[in-house]
Order: sequence, then C-alpha cells, then structure tokens
Amino acid sequence: MHPLHLRTSGTSLLLAFDRGEAEMVHWGADLGDSIPDLALLRSPIPHSALDVPVVAGLLPQASSGWLGRPGLRGHRMGAVEAEHSVPGYAFSPALRVVAAEQSEDGRSARIVQSDAEAGLDVVSELVLHEGGLLEISHELTNTGGGAYQLDELGVVVPVPAQAAELLDLTGRWCRENHPQRHTIQQGTWVRSGRHGRTGHDSSLLVAAGTPGFANRSGRVWAVHFGWSGNHEQYLDSLADGRRMLGATELLGSGEIVLAPGESYRTPILYAAYSDRGLDGVTDAFYRWFRSRPNHVGTTSGRQRPVVLNTWEAVYFDHRLEPLLELAESAAELGVERFVLDDGWFRGRRDDHSGLGDWYVDEALWPDGLTPLIEKVNGLGMEFGLWVEPEMVNLDSDVARAHPDWIVGPSAASHQDGGRLPLEWRHQHVIDLANPDAWQYIYDLLDALLTENNIAYLKWDQNRDLTEHGHRGRPSVHEQTLAVYRLFDALKAAHPGVEIESCSSGGARVDLGVLQRTDRVWASDCNDALERQTIQRWTQAVLPPELVGSHVGPTHSHTTGRVHDITFRAITALFGHFGMEWDIREATDRDRAVLKRTIELYKRHRGLLHSGERVNADLADPNLKLHGVVAQDRSEALFAAVVHGSLAAEVPGRVGLPGLDPERTYRIEAIMPTSADLPKTVEGDAESPFAEISPPAWLADGATASGRFLAEVGLPLPVLRPEHALLLRATTVG
Ligand code: GLA
Repeated sequence: MHPLHLRTSGTSLLLAFDRGEAEMVHWGADLGDSIPDLALLRSPIPHSALDVPVVAGLLPQASSGWLGRPGLRGHRMGAVEAEHSVPGYAFSPALRVVAAEQSEDGRSARIVQSDAEAGLDVVSELVLHEGGLLEISHELTNTGGGAYQLDELGVVVPVPAQAAELLDLTGRWCRENHPQRHTIQQGTWVRSGRHGRTGHDSSLLVAAGTPGFANRSGRVWAVHFGWSGNHEQYLDSLADGRRMLGATELLGSGEIVLAPGESYRTPILYAAYSDRGLDGVTDAFYRWFRSRPNHVGTTSGRQRPVVLNTWEAVYFDHRLEPLLELAESAAELGVERFVLDDGWFRGRRDDHSGLGDWYVDEALWPDGLTPLIEKVNGLGMEFGLWVEPEMVNLDSDVARAHPDWIVGPSAASHQDGGRLPLEWRHQHVIDLANPDAWQYIYDLLDALLTENNIAYLKWDQNRDLTEHGHRGRPSVHEQTLAVYRLFDALKAAHPGVEIESCSSGGARVDLGVLQRTDRVWASDCNDALERQTIQRWTQAVLPPELVGSHVGPTHSHTTGRVHDITFRAITALFGHFGMEWDIREATDRDRAVLKRTIELYKRHRGLLHSGERVNADLADPNLKLHGVVAQDRSEALFAAVVHGSLAAEVPGRVGLPGLDPERTYRIEAIMPTSADLPKTVEGDAESPFAEISPPAWLADGATASGRFLAEVGLPLPVLRPEHALLLRATTVG
C-alpha cells in the first residue's frame, strides 16, 4: 500500500503502511511533492532489543513492539474461545490495515485497521484543514462474538526529537489557563482530569517545541483534546527516543462495555504545527474556527453584541425596578444584549435551592419575565437568560418528586438508602443518561425559549461530577454525550439562540462543547490584571469573539484589587466585550470611558474578531504587548500592558509585530487619552503614567514603516503597574 500524504498551509502529514499497520512517519513542516521510498527510514536495531524495528503506529500496539503507552487497552474479561466462542487474546490486538483512502482534495484520510481474531476494527479519520489544523479520531467496533470491555482508546501524534520543551496550561477557579513549562525528559508527563467536566485545571493546549520556543519563534507541535468529560493528556517520551503527544478519554472502571457490533468513538484530537512559534499554532486554530458554518462573529456577518450581565451588579436581588433601571442605564451606554443571571427561577433566593425547577418564580415575577424582556427589547437590546440545566438542589420540587434522577454511586436513590456524592455549592447533578430526566429538562428549556423572546442562554455548570454513576456504573461518558444532545436538540429547535458555555467561569472550555455553543465564559474573575493572563492563554486556542470579557466593578469582587477604568476597558476590549457591574453607580468619568470604549468596540470589532492575534516576545515578564492585525495588514490594534513594576526605568522601545514590513503605518495611542484621565493635577496618583514628559511621538502619533515599527519599535510611556495603553495602526497612502 502506498503512503498517504496530506498537505496544506505549510504542514504535511505522511502515513506509511509498509509494516502492515498505519504509521505516522511525519507530522510537521511541508515536505513538497516528492517523497522518497520510505524504506530508507527503517531504524537500526540496537543490542538487547526486539529483533525487528518497532513501529510507532497511528494506534501504538505491543504487537508491533511498542512499549510506550498503548493506543488501545481493553479485554474480554478473561473469556476464551472454547467457553464463549470469542477469542481470549483481545487484550493485545494486532490491528493491521485493510483499507486506506484519501479524499479527492487530498486533505483527509480514512484508515481501517482490523484484527479478525481479536474481534476488533478501528476506523481512523484524519482531516488536515486549510490553515493547517489537523483533526484525528478513531472509532472502535467490537466485531467479535462476546462483550469487549474498553479501558482506553487514545489519539496520538508523533513529536520529533527537535522538541526539547513542553508547555501546558493549568489553573483553578478565578485563575484559569496559566502556562507551565519544563524540559522534556524520558518518561510520561500526564495531565489527568477527573472532574467530570473539562476542569479549571485542564490544559487547553499542550505544546512541545524546539529549545526556547516563544510566542513568535521556534517550531511547535501542539494539541487540544475536544472533550468535556474526564480525560488524560500526555507526552510519552520513550527510552528509544521517540515521543508521542496524545490524549484519551479517562474511562471509569467498567464504564464502556461494547456488546457485539457496538462501537465507541473517541473525541477529536486537534493538532497544529507551527514554524513561527505559538502565534502560528493560534493562527491555525483561529482559521479553523472561523471557517465553520456555525461560527458566530465578524467572519459570518454576525457581530458580537455589547453585553451587560447582571451577576456582579445585583446577584440574587431580582427586584424588577432596579433591573429596569439597570437596563435603561445600559442602553444609554450603547449596550446591545442584557443578560439576566442566576436568581429568576422558582425558589432561587440564594444558592441553596431551586436548581432543577426551571419555571419563572411567580412570587418574584408575577407577570413572568415579560415586563423586563419588553423593556429590554424596547430599549433596542436583546435579552439573555442564565440557566444551569445539568444541576439540581435537594431543596427543589424536582428533587422531591424524582429522587432517582439525582446522580450518585449507588443504584438506589438517596431516599431508598443510596449514597449521594458530597455536595458542591449545595448542589447535585441530574442524571441526563435517564431519558425521563433528559426530557424533563429539555421540555422546560424549550418552553422558556418558546414563550419568551430569549436570544441567548448563559448555560452554566457549577460543580465537578464526582462519583458520577448511572444504575451503579460510572457514567461521565454517557452524561457528557447526553449534555451534548441537549445542546444540539435545543439549537435545532431554536436555531437563532446563542449559547454560552460557562462552568464556574472557565471549567468547560473545549472544542467539544464549542461545537454546539457560541462563546465561553473564560473566568469568574473580572479583575483586569488576572484577565490579561487568562485571556492571553485562552485565546491561544479560541478566537476573541468566542471569549466573553467583561468590565467588572472598580473593586474586583474576586480579588479585591482596584483598577482604573481604562485598564479594565482595554482588557475587556480584546474579547466579546461586555460589562458586569452596577453601572448605575459608576462615576461620570467611568461612564464616559465606558461609552467611548463601547464606541471603540463597535468600530473595531470587525477587526478584533477577524484578524490575526500577535503576542510580542519581551524580556521583562511584567511587560506585555499583544494585538490583532487585519488579515490584509491594513490596520491593527495593540495593547501594551504593564503587569507589575518593571525592572528598567522606562519600558524602552517595543516592537509592533505582525505589520507588513513594506507598508507605512500611522500609530496613534487611543486610550487613555487626555479625555479619559481624571481631571486632577499632573502626576496625580490616579494617573496611568508616572513620568515628567511622555515620549515624543505620543501626542501626535508616529508614522513609520512596518519594518521599522517591528525592528526598532516605539518608546512606550512610563505606564504604572496594572495599566495599559491601546494603540491603533493604520496604513498611510
Ligand atoms: C457561576 C458563574 C457566574 C454566575 C454564578 C451564578 O459561578 O460562573 O458567572 O453566573 O454562577 O450563580
């Protein structure tokens, strides 16, 4: 069988079959048209080793000598042929290729591998998208005569020896997506997620790269796993020098047992190669997102509206009058979508009760949500509503009526002596693997969307799924698929409704949930300083139009920090912009800056939500510069951000990356300008700047070539810590 070569956008994937199974010979730089006879790649055989070269398969197997993490683990519970007319050795399959096809456009491949004696087939789908993003998934079918218990089916890509360092992301509530980095050594680096949801600490991206790879330099091989349940991501670095970067669903004991003829499909592993650092990986993901037909944002003509969310404004205080005032105040500023957060439904006065009873609270809303929705719509805004459909409080009508719908490790309900998992925010999980429970939730959400003019759901999920079982068996897998079906069914019935994936902030941010939702809530932390890092790394994979980003109150509710309005505004601008604050109480200056920011956002969201993300590489870790450059390089927005006190007296000249070196640009500082500053004496402690005089170019702007701006840069003003400067670049002539 001939090798298959998938190529596009500077990336090649080469698959060989000469050893009987599918082998990924190369994933990385484009190889051009001419591929030599791959027999030349056969490795030497060292002493004290297997007598044949070991194959690093698309699905690594011990039957080919692979002693790293196996691609497939499972068994037939010790059954042997004589007793059960099934082969007993399915624990070590020898899957060999029976078919390998490449699509006509050359960008995708379908590979069938089979082991008739073990009774297993695996079909692998590989797609290399325009822009360079690679998708891989496998489907395993039990073709044998008895049950097959699946323990693990992983999806891997090879990483070459040039990769010396690994970067992945981790976090916690209010501090999602922080990078960590180490040198690759022998052994396996595993990131396990047993949260039953993606998890605050899940690694949105795992990237291996050449020594010192950075935002805009080095070769990088990076993956993301598109799954919202338990999972493991790993880099397996073997004694023979080979490395595999991969991921698998983390299955519970006995969770997947395939009857004859049944199949299991892995989530998709997304992989991107870049020869220009992490920004190149980001570019591949953005291109893929924006090419999807259901993508919401500039590229599909559906601009992201300015949001006001009520959570940090009123919390559970859902009195109509203040909410109407808030809506008026929001409309005056130019808000386009008003989102009513938690607290509107039956019995929900605080977070101890009500989840599961998705009826508008008659005591609080005697005329339903209509008076608020009509007011909001009348002011020209869309209305959005918070829901948390997967959860239930024991203090709710639904929990009292259907105790058996509450998930736990026991087959019996808690009312019949079964044990419940520990509570988390006083809540439990509703068993969506139970068709009656699923239907109940679907019907209530469907009714809400049918009876009210709701354009947007903030869909929350506020606890880990611990000891999660259905009829005495672990069932995170089934629950995750049932939640996906719920999203899909509601989207099909209400195609215009947008859905946000929120999970105590960013605990469900992944490409599985994003196949059926329209944005994520990156974090419950609205502190602009924290948000700078959270958004930089969330946006390493997700384009800004999918990342909700709100200006919070002056005193951050989650950290207690106080930030100037210009820093909060510039930070929120680089996302799907909104506010989450009782803006009725904002000072005149704050309201003026908010109004100007909303105008800026409306003017520039076309650019922000279609351009290429750039992140400068600067030596001082407290100084950052990031931006969005138009695809045609005609304009750009940059933010220079000072996270903490800088080592040097002045920030120095900072290069503006990503512009066309041959064109001339005009650079202007557009926030803060004198109009945004407090009307107090020069040098006042409230000023974002600490300097006797600003850099020469700042007052009237600068004109220079893209090459000059990138290589020489512009001297930045002396910004105080936790402040930012917004710059705009436009081509001249
Ligand atoms: C979670 C969300 C918040 C808010 C509250 C409401 O914590 O992440 O944004 O919606 O729930 O209870």
